[in-house]
Amino acid sequence: MKYATNTLEYYWMPFTANRDFKAHPRLFVRGEGVFYWDHHGNQVIDGSSGLFCVAAGHGRKEIAEAVYNQLIELDYGPPFQGGHPPQFELARRVAQLTPEGIDRVFFGNSGSEAVDTAIKIALAYHRARGEGTRMRFVSRERAYHGVNIGGTSLAGLVKNREAFGVGMAGVAHMRHTWLPQNRFTKGQPEHGVELADDLERIVMTYGPDTVAACFVEPIAGSTGVLVPPKGYLERIREICDAYGILLVYDEVICGFGRLGTPFGAQAFNVKPDIMTMAKALTNGNQPMGAVAVNDHVYDTIMDAAPDGAIEFFHGYTYSGHPAACAAGIATIDIYEKEQLFDRAAELAPYFLEQMFSLSDVPAVTDIRGYGLMAGFDVVPEGGPGKRGYQVQKDLFAAGLHVKMTGDSGIVAPPLIAEKSHVDQICDILRKVLSKY
Ligand SMILES: Cc1ncc(COP(=O)(O)O)c(C=O)c1O
Repeated sequence: MKYATNTLEYYWMPFTANRDFKAHPRLFVRGEGVFYWDHHGNQVIDGSSGLFCVAAGHGRKEIAEAVYNQLIELDYGPPFQGGHPPQFELARRVAQLTPEGIDRVFFGNSGSEAVDTAIKIALAYHRARGEGTRMRFVSRERAYHGVNIGGTSLAGLVKNREAFGVGMAGVAHMRHTWLPQNRFTKGQPEHGVELADDLERIVMTYGPDTVAACFVEPIAGSTGVLVPPKGYLERIREICDAYGILLVYDEVICGFGRLGTPFGAQAFNVKPDIMTMAKALTNGNQPMGAVAVNDHVYDTIMDAAPDGAIEFFHGYTYSGHPAACAAGIATIDIYEKEQLFDRAAELAPYFLEQMFSLSDVPAVTDIRGYGLMAGFDVVPEGGPGKRGYQVQKDLFAAGLHVKMTGDSGIVAPPLIAEKSHVDQICDILRKVLSKY
């Protein structure tokens, strides 16, 4: 597709230093496999699967064809009091991947919508069982749960909150799980299980019958890959069970093979009640998010409504859009046919070894990782995030795309990557990070 773009002026770019970008643009114009090409024709290896979406690699014709065929067959169908086959089929395919019993799937258009939907499901569930007093939520410092008002309120990143008022009332934050004594730990750290007890402290401060749900990312992704300490998720689960609190995993990054299993729930063998997902659900080829809930939550909300009545007054014009569902089905077909989750598990030890070999670079102050996802921190300079932004620009100029959050980088290549791609990513990282 050719566009006669000769101005960058009109588009307000999200989470972007607009003025700096427009003075020195970095445009992605083509993608294939694990590579992008920029507007100068330079090849850029994709070290972050776009934004952790493109797990099956770029330019997957099977997905493009499925979307095209779906749009020709049925372009749009009203999702309220109406349905179409791809919605039901994608929900079935997702339910096959989620842990047993977490089988009911609600669709939206993004991870942010999935999170806000999960908040509403939790509130509706408690109300349906006669515990409408449960309106509080618990999340964590350094959490990222998208940018809608619910997700912003759950967020634990100051820059994502400070300009936006007080948000949703009644959210308390546990401490994050980054500890200095865990620096340079591959896999789950030894220290920090006791941080899970923050949940119990919060419950005791506000009253057990006021807390609806606890949200955690199995691995806090956007904030730089904070792998849960050993025993941490188990303890969170125990506390939730003890006080009747729903456990919600935000699997928007961890889902669909990133950790070598379908979801983080299986990687850490601790089951939530509700899971949010997006991104790699459609290989990033169509906007889509989803919430999967266990049968008990679903049945409770269904059974509380009168016969023939709408049970849950929530949904989006584009919930389960036919094109997004077609993309999701074609994506899961690829994951299964190419056994990409197993492939990620096989490549993970090599990937982590190569990433951790950067530990000797003086500017690198920590590396963390699990599966095909690793985070690194660089020594800040000139204020939080300044050096990180410079790193991102320098990496891009050297032919590598990596998502930076503040002074942390998140490396998560497509699951189709070969060892040679891992080498290429780590070579560029070493070359660029050694300059600081
Ligand atoms: C854990 C988590 N939740 C929610 C979101 C929000 O997803 P989206 O940007 O699709 O709204 C993200 C995005 O990175 C995420 O990492």
